[in-house]
Amino acid sequence: MKRLVFATNNAHKLEEARKILGDRLEIVSLEEIGCNDDIPETAPTLEGNALIKARWIHDRYGLDCFADDTGLMVDALNGAPGVMSARYAGPAHDSAANMKKLLSEMEDKEDRRAHFSTAVALILDDQEYVFEGRVDGVISRTPAGTQGFGYDPVFIPDESGISFAEMDADAKNAISHRGRAMQKLADFLSR
Ligand code: IMP
Repeated sequence: MKRLVFATNNAHKLEEARKILGDRLEIVSLEEIGCNDDIPETAPTLEGNALIKARWIHDRYGLDCFADDTGLMVDALNGAPGVMSARYAGPAHDSAANMKKLLSEMEDKEDRRAHFSTAVALILDDQEYVFEGRVDGVISRTPAGTQGFGYDPVFIPDESGISFAEMDADAKNAISHRGRAMQKLADFLSR
């Protein structure tokens, strides 16, 4: 089976990717190729950051790989936290702190519209490709659910009345930003 590195060590993302791509590809994490680098995410766009991560692995390890970058864009906050979503409350990448800050910034906002966007960058046979996925929804007033990760407890997609953290992995995958981008990747790879 062909191997493809997914430039992440996030267990939730790996599980999501293996569900979508795992029947035709062996998806390998950074840890599994012995990469412990803290890959810098310094680009001003999701696509730019996804490409930085994919190129990092391709340049150093010579392996085919893909990488993703996601942002939560909130209308009432002019698109924030956006590309800064992981570091919204500071450099610690602390999801609980990020969510707390988001709910506090949103406290007096009636407009709760938001969307997640994901860019997936693939490097295959030295060629670069980018796939995008998006899901629209609203920011809830209180967190709900224990599944998933990141901002899942406060994001309610339009397609369902419950938060991402209240959905099982398959239900989230079917409509999520990353699920949609990964499905485009899967469709491309099966051509
Ligand atoms: P990353 O680019 O995937 O590292 O994501 C950036 C930020 O968005 C991190 O704070 C993640 O926790 C958050 N994030 C990414 N994907 C999801 C998701 O599927 N649900 C909720 N939060 C997410």
